[in-house]
Amino acid sequence: MGAAAFHRRRHRDNGRLIPAISAVFGALLLVFVLFSFLTPSPTDDEHLLHDLRRPVVNDAVVNVEVSGFRVPTSGGRLDRDIWKSRMSKFYYGCSNASKKFPEAEGITHSNRYLLIATSGGLNQQRTGITDAVVVARILNATLVVPKLDQKSFWKDASNFSEIFDVDWFISHLSKDVKIIKELPTRAGKIWTPYTMRVPRKCSARCYQSRVLPNLLKKHAVQLTKFDYRLSNKLDTDLQKLRCRVNYHALKFTDPIIQMAEKLVHRMRKRSKHYIALHLRFEPDMLAFSGCYYGGGDKERKELGGIRKRWKTLHEILRTQAYHSSKC
Ligand SMILES: *[C@@H]1O[C@H](CO)[C@@H](O)[C@H](O)[C@H]1NC(C)=O
Ligand SMILES: *[C@@H]1O[C@H](CO)[C@@H](O)[C@H](O)[C@H]1NC(C)=O
Ligand SMILES: *[C@@H]1O[C@H](CO)[C@@H](O)[C@H](O)[C@H]1NC(C)=O
Repeated sequence: MGAAAFHRRRHRDNGRLIPAISAVFGALLLVFVLFSFLTPSPTDDEHLLHDLRRPVVNDAVVNVEVSGFRVPTSGGRLDRDIWKSRMSKFYYGCSNASKKFPEAEGITHSNRYLLIATSGGLNQQRTGITDAVVVARILNATLVVPKLDQKSFWKDASNFSEIFDVDWFISHLSKDVKIIKELPTRAGKIWTPYTMRVPRKCSARCYQSRVLPNLLKKHAVQLTKFDYRLSNKLDTDLQKLRCRVNYHALKFTDPIIQMAEKLVHRMRKRSKHYIALHLRFEPDMLAFSGCYYGGGDKERKELGGIRKRWKTLHEILRTQAYHSSKC
């Protein structure tokens, strides 16, 4: 119960409720205090602990501060502190749609098609695909399976169905958004969608005000260079939809899964535990960072060349004369 609701209630109530609430709060506090003493040290389940303790931490009476994540010193209990969570039995999935989330069939308009062209590296494209499903849902449109960026820095010529299980993607989301493989033909002819871009950080309302009018007029709209993030101010059911797309509907194809399993198997042969680290120390990222990495004029020239690709990068960064500093 929020503080405001509590006060509202107190005004209305004739006084009998307050002792009861105090007693419940008191008991809760006691449980929390006991709980925090029984819990030896903060670990990776700290976020959950923190949430559980919030009412106590915010209370002036009992102040159980949770310190930051502790890296065990030598000989520490690495095993317990890093590799497992004693709270994991309390975790549960929450990406399922709520009962009030209508099924796609009832809300999809048959003459609204959304297409997107993703942009960037695979992870960025994956986020774009996730957001595209939500945008189609917001616009009550049918989504055409997104086109992957084959001209990005990595020049990966793979298409969607080579990376992701496209039939699984379509069927798993069938209750959320209608998805088809290709734009249907119109009067036997290939139909060119209307192309447009949306501003960075376009929110649900922004898609409705900017894309919907075009969708109503042209019936098929393609959003180009779709690598923006849907606003964080998305309502819970749409956030859950993002989770369903990212964690359930986007499944890698078998050859990729087999390769990953092989790598994991090799690492597990060496140790029960392993850490995968993505260093991302690649030319485009180095160029975009605007930093100087000590490679002399050769580096300045090469990174300067790459920097010209981004029109949005500050002019000074794009010119070769720029002497970037270490950072
Ligand atoms: C979510 O839905 C799936 C499929 O209907 C079901 O198997 C699963 O138990 C549900 N999960 C939760 C946490 O309700
Ligand atoms: C989509 O459909 C829902 C349910 O019928 C409706 O409330 C909403 O206004 C529609 N949105 C658009 C953009 O058509
Ligand atoms: C994707 O690439 C594969 C292999 O090159 C090809 O067989 C398939 O037709 C392509 N799919 C689409 C939708 O372009």
